[in-house]
Amino acid sequence: MQKLAITGGPVLSGEITASGAKNAALPILAACLLVAEPVTLTNVPHLADISTMLSLLTSMGMRVTLDDKNALHLDASDIHHYLAPYDLVKTMRASIVVLGPLLTRFHEAFVSLPGGCAIGARPVNIHIDGLIAMGASIHIENGYIHAKAPNGLKGAVLSPELVSVTGTENLMMAAVLASGTTVINNAACEPEVQDLAHFLNALGAKISGIGTSRLVIDGVKALHGGSHHVIGDRIEAGTYLVAAAATGGHIRINAINPGTMEAVILKLQESGAKLELGTDFIELNMAKKRPKAVNLRTAPHPAFPTDMQAQFMALNCIATGNSTMIETIFENRFMHALELQRMGASIRLDGHTAHCEGIEQLTGVHVMATDLRASASLVIAGLIATGQTIIERIYHIDRGYERIEEKLSKLGATIARIN
Ligand code: EPZ
Repeated sequence: MQKLAITGGPVLSGEITASGAKNAALPILAACLLVAEPVTLTNVPHLADISTMLSLLTSMGMRVTLDDKNALHLDASDIHHYLAPYDLVKTMRASIVVLGPLLTRFHEAFVSLPGGCAIGARPVNIHIDGLIAMGASIHIENGYIHAKAPNGLKGAVLSPELVSVTGTENLMMAAVLASGTTVINNAACEPEVQDLAHFLNALGAKISGIGTSRLVIDGVKALHGGSHHVIGDRIEAGTYLVAAAATGGHIRINAINPGTMEAVILKLQESGAKLELGTDFIELNMAKKRPKAVNLRTAPHPAFPTDMQAQFMALNCIATGNSTMIETIFENRFMHALELQRMGASIRLDGHTAHCEGIEQLTGVHVMATDLRASASLVIAGLIATGQTIIERIYHIDRGYERIEEKLSKLGATIARIN
């Protein structure tokens, strides 16, 4: 089992480049199932989750090659399996986004129920109810979703009661080849959802309302091939910016659009950081100051993202003043707080609210990662603690952060992967 060993104390400084967004690349890879012509994708990050998705797609018959310029070439002209098996879906629940594309193009799909994860039960009723409204017949048996639509899907007006990122993505992809028009009200408008919609339109889909909570999709007969450059990862970028702010540092992140992370930028400014925003870079300078505590409440985009809550909690642990963090999206997304408490943090959990009292110093100890963003929180805590922090179960972090120790070392951190 690999671990990360981090020695606290550096003031991060320097320049790194954001990788492509994991949560855009995953649905965009699944969307390649919709088209019988070659597609080229650039800026796809090298992450465990991406490898899992590529394994799933190739098991269905997708042809995948990576060229010497790091571009991915996919060809779904002879997909022969419509199955997403449990052993792949259990390692990455986002595999559920192959359901919509398989069903709308091949009129059948067998997808394992993704099951829950550390942060919550993660139901998929919004995905299923939407597909049924579009004419699918769906049976759930032996832990699998068996979806059929012998005559294809039909456009419908959908109004899910919750904003669901992958729910919106699945239903939007299903609608692209459905007959007639689909309206998705209460749609998620995260930048990754927008990037998927732009990709689909580049292949000939007819999606309007991109970036709003009401998407209108006019079904087309077929899509054609094309290419797409995946947007920069706003959560990866946000993680490094919070790490820099927590250590009083000064860094620049390239290949990221600040327009995808306004709420995070405002919170960083509230913590006392000075930011310079370019069209494709963000520079943060904390000028060796201790951050000020910031209150936050997670909500769907463009509000403060739940995927950045754990990272800001680490910053709040050593900030000046007290803070309140309210997690409205997932029912169990405070597990990093228990590990931060072991490092000396003063955090009190009260249901969906975490109260934090900023202290001078955390202490490096052995801690355990429980989920992807909790791991990132522990890395930030390790950077600001005295002594050495050893983080176990770092397979969680490799799912969402490309070469994390390389990027942090480049910024001056003392971090190594150990067995
Ligand atoms: C996506 O998960 C992201 N994953 C998550 O990022 C992110 O935290 C989440 O959106 C919220 O922004 C990917 O994009 C691959 P949801 P998703 O459906 O789509 C409830 C990371 O760290 N819900 O928007 O699964 C659900 O329980 C990951 O990269 C239903 O009740 O999240 C939750 O409370 C973690 N029924 C809320 O909606 C459904 O059918 C939002 O979930 C679907 C969701």
